[in-house]
Amino acid sequence: MFAVAIDGPAGAGKSSVAKAAAQELGFVYVDTGAIYRTIALHVLRQGVDPHDAPAVEALLPAIQVGLEYTPEGQVMRLNGEDVTSLIRTPEVSMATSACSAIPAVRAFLLQLQRDLAEKNNVLMDGRDIGTVVLPEADVKIYLTASPEIRARRRCLELEQRGTPEPFDQVLSEIQQRDWDDSHRETAPLRQAEDAVVVDTTELNFEESLAALLAVVRG
Ligand code: DC
Repeated sequence: MFAVAIDGPAGAGKSSVAKAAAQELGFVYVDTGAIYRTIALHVLRQGVDPHDAPAVEALLPAIQVGLEYTPEGQVMRLNGEDVTSLIRTPEVSMATSACSAIPAVRAFLLQLQRDLAEKNNVLMDGRDIGTVVLPEADVKIYLTASPEIRARRRCLELEQRGTPEPFDQVLSEIQQRDWDDSHRETAPLRQAEDAVVVDTTELNFEESLAALLAVVRG
């Protein structure tokens, strides 16, 4: 099996560009953020504070996370329910950042992610794929862009979904998540030593895709 690990901050284009790259390569695109988001949605629904590690940990045994790969992409199931679109709200984003800092949550999801890479050629995106989940990945990429351009892209995405948010708010949430994701103790967001950096600040979608594919194809 061949594994491409892509890590980087929120909104660097991982979900859009990485998904297109996986399609082009004929690989399964694994969006690990969506898996963490599914846990966070359950935590919010149970009325539990996502920062309360013991309370979140206590919920884990009752959570069944399901993934399906359809022509439209990755479908997320929470105890059987399709939650693919429900996990994309700003509220879930912030809760996910908190839940994903909890070591028990990361341990709970580790094997699930490794199993996917054992059974499929994958392009897996997240925060700790090249550093923790798949340290032996064939190719490691650190995909990044300036916070302002990432906020602008996220605003466009939210607008297209019919749930616009003010730019300043999106930018400050991105900065907050960058900080939280890179300063937590367990598996913080950082560039693997052997990762190739792809900075998409100055690149449009097509250019970002070409840059990513060029790294994978060597
Ligand atoms: O990629 P995303 O924006 O959907 O990720 C949502 C949150 O999940 C993000 O704040 C960090 C966390 N995350 C993580 O800790 N590890 C991963 N492999 C993927 C996401």
